[in-house]
Amino acid sequence: MDGLFITFEGGDGSGKSTQSRLLAEWLEGRGREVVATREPGGTDLGREIRQLVMHGKDHVDERAEALLYAADRAHHVATVVRPALERGAVVLQDRYFDSSVAYQGVGRSLSADEVRDLSMWAVRGLVPHATVLLDLDPEVGMARLSGRGELDRLEAAGAEFHRRVREAYLGFAEQDPQRFLVVDAAGDIDEIQTAIRARVASLLGAS
Ligand code: TYD
Repeated sequence: MDGLFITFEGGDGSGKSTQSRLLAEWLEGRGREVVATREPGGTDLGREIRQLVMHGKDHVDERAEALLYAADRAHHVATVVRPALERGAVVLQDRYFDSSVAYQGVGRSLSADEVRDLSMWAVRGLVPHATVLLDLDPEVGMARLSGRGELDRLEAAGAEFHRRVREAYLGFAEQDPQRFLVVDAAGDIDEIQTAIRARVASLLGAS
C-alpha cells in the first residue's frame, strides 16, 4: 500500500474538520490525491447507521452502539479507505477506532481492550500512519458547539463522560507517541496547521 492514512481525533468541537480541510488544500497543492472522509457516515450504509446511532429516538444499548460504529467502520474501510490507499491517495479521516475506544470503551465503560479488538477485527488490522489528537477542554468544545443547534446523543452525554473521553485520548497518545501528534486545540488555527503539516511532510519524505 503506497497511500498515507491520517486520522483526526478529539472531542466534539475541537476543530478536526477545519484542520483536515486545510491539510487537504496543502496536499492537493503538492499534487497528491486526497480522500477526505469521516466516521460515522463515510458511505451510504454509514449514513444510515449514523442516523440510527446518533439521532434515533430510543435508547441504544451500549454494546449495540459499539457494534454499529464497528459495522460502519468495517464497510467504510473495505469500500473507501483501502481502495484509496491502494491507488496511492492520502486519506484524511475525521475519527477512527480511537473514537470507539475512547467513547464506547472508556466513556461508556465497556472494556477498552474489547472495543479495540472489535474494531481491529472490523478493519483487518488497518492502523493509521499518523493520528492528530486535537486536545481541548470539553467545556470549551461544548461551548463552541452550542451555537450550532441541537446536540446529538453523544454530545449530550454529560461533562463527566467527556472528561473521561479526553483523558482516554491523552492516555492513547502517551502509549503510542510514534503514531500520535497531540496539539492544543485551543491554540491558533494556523499554528496548529503548521505543526500538522510538519508531521505529514516528514511522513511523505519517508514514504
Ligand atoms: P460528528 O458530528 O461526526 O463529529 P464531531 O463531533 O467530531 O464533529 O459526531 C460523531 C459522534 O460520534 C461524536 O460524538 C463521537 C461519536 N463516536 C463514537 O462514539 N464512537 C465512534 O467510534 C465514532 C467514530 C464516533
